Amino acid sequence: MSKVFEMNHPLIQHKLSLIRDKNTGSKEFRELVKEVSMLLAFEVTRDLSLEDVEIETPICKMTTKMLSGRKLGIIPILRAGLGMVDGFLNLLPAAKVGHIGLYRDPETLKPVEYYCKLPTDINERDLIVVDPMLATGGSASAAIEFLKDRGATSIKLVCLIGCPEGIAAVQDAHPDVNIYIAKIDEKLNDHAYIVPGLGDAGDRLFGTK
Ligand code: URA
Repeated sequence: MSKVFEMNHPLIQHKLSLIRDKNTGSKEFRELVKEVSMLLAFEVTRDLSLEDVEIETPICKMTTKMLSGRKLGIIPILRAGLGMVDGFLNLLPAAKVGHIGLYRDPETLKPVEYYCKLPTDINERDLIVVDPMLATGGSASAAIEFLKDRGATSIKLVCLIGCPEGIAAVQDAHPDVNIYIAKIDEKLNDHAYIVPGLGDAGDRLFGTK
């Protein structure tokens, strides 16, 4: 069974409260999502491996640490996942970014991929799938499935807000994928919105309705 990490750093919780507030407009919403994403990126990368390297400071030679492990890939699920990309890239500028777009088929209710552009070497990268809201878990599970079908072997899922239903769905489908969430909310409502949540993350990011 995968692990679920709730990121209860005070800065994350403070900024998330501002993000949730319905009076927060799109500009501030985007900035806050970027800032929280950067803080999440910091937490999610705690387990990156390091190696010893020799460098020379202005004073003397020394042995110090630098990242040594596999390269990273950030995979936003369109469209709301786009809001998290810049925050991750601020901390991980060498990461490549792949995009996955999904819609729900109105008849089968299954997620259908309409766009997918990924780094060619995803099998050699640690992938971080980003989507602000883990609601039913349908899109996240499908996106992870598409990545695995294309050879991905190391995947984490990072969300701003999740709920027990979505977490259970992803854990069921992908017991190898750890989930990182700023805050786990109470439940889904009948319209598949997270309660209390923040409303529609895509609409709030991009000012649509
Ligand atoms: N997607 C959103 O943007 N918000 C929700 O509450 C659920 C899914």
